[in-house]
Amino acid sequence: MNPKITIRRFAVFSFAAFAAFSVFAAVSCTPLTSMWKSTQGNRASAEKSVPQSVSSERPLVSNAFAYARYVAINLSDTPRKDEWTEADIKSVFQKAAQQSGIPESEALKFYSMQVPSQAEGRTNQRIGKFRQQVRACMSDSKGWSHGACCRALAGPAALIPEPSEAQTLESSGSESRFRVQGMKAWLSVCHSVTSGQPATLADFRKFHDYQSVQPDGWTKKLHARSRAKRGPRRLYRSAEGDIAVAETLVPEDCSVLETEVIVRRPDGALNFWVYDARGQPVDTSHFPPADVPAGGGPKTVEKPSPDSCMGCHYDLKTRQFNVQFPSADELKLPSTKDLPVLCRQTGESLAEDN
Ligand code: HEC
Repeated sequence: MNPKITIRRFAVFSFAAFAAFSVFAAVSCTPLTSMWKSTQGNRASAEKSVPQSVSSERPLVSNAFAYARYVAINLSDTPRKDEWTEADIKSVFQKAAQQSGIPESEALKFYSMQVPSQAEGRTNQRIGKFRQQVRACMSDSKGWSHGACCRALAGPAALIPEPSEAQTLESSGSESRFRVQGMKAWLSVCHSVTSGQPATLADFRKFHDYQSVQPDGWTKKLHARSRAKRGPRRLYRSAEGDIAVAETLVPEDCSVLETEVIVRRPDGALNFWVYDARGQPVDTSHFPPADVPAGGGPKTVEKPSPDSCMGCHYDLKTRQFNVQFPSADELKLPSTKDLPVLCRQTGESLAEDN
């Protein structure tokens, strides 16, 4: 595609998305039912990748709205618990862009950069591409920080369609639609920054020494047959219950493959962080594959974080990402009764997983 046209098209959307926020909000205040209709496609594709549950629990908002609200929560300095409207969300995006100090034309230049991505699957490709756009922003001679680039690019990622989608969007006339794929990519690259994830697991442990379990402090439990991981997993929880740490264990030697962290924010939403075996922050986590082919196959697959977390740790009705301990039954995760009990330390509490 001619880059000039691309930029102009982005500029048009940018005008719609930013310059005329209030007008835009007024025309885009669609009733929930029609919004639901317009994003059914997104919902279906999101549901393919992660187990979902209880179809009778019809959600109150669309998947796209739920993601947009979560991105806005990520960008908000002050916690709020009341209802969010589409206009609230868009004004958070607009404010974040202003706070970043990056002029809109610059942000759009980075966002419209055409970068090839070799990753497998649509979500991973989108993440790979967005990561390079954020890198381009950060390596600009003006020295923009990661946080500033994330603030400036949240609106574009959430609202501007991929060039390949533009045709459909224009013909459907629903410019206000939030873009689930763009927001998933934004979350992979930006959630750890905007949520203040400590730089390493060692840093996290300086604040939260979860392994030194005490009667009135952290608690510890072994899920020897975790249904989320289809294998052993050790869970720690803070005394207040608002921080949880989950170590995925390697069945062969019980070493820690990765450490997942959930921190409840003051507004009730959750932050999802992952560290690899060396304690470095990563944006993927290991899960059992959906189907293991008859001849065998990989024992685990890596899925993007926080997107994969959000596929299970959410309220089925309100679609808020605030469920710290999801029900494996409600998520219809396969039983793990056939697995052996591994990795139990002397006297360690054992959870009922089946
Ligand atoms: C397939 C669904 C699923 C996905 C995806 C998932 N979880 Fe979970 N999570 C669960 C279930 C179910 C539990 C309850 C314990 C168990 O079965 O292992 C849980 C428990 C936890 C706990 C312990 C909570 C507590 O209060 O004790 C943490 C921490 C956690 N998950 C973090 C994450 C993070 C971070 C991600 C993303 C990288 C993630 N989870 C992705 C289903 C999931």
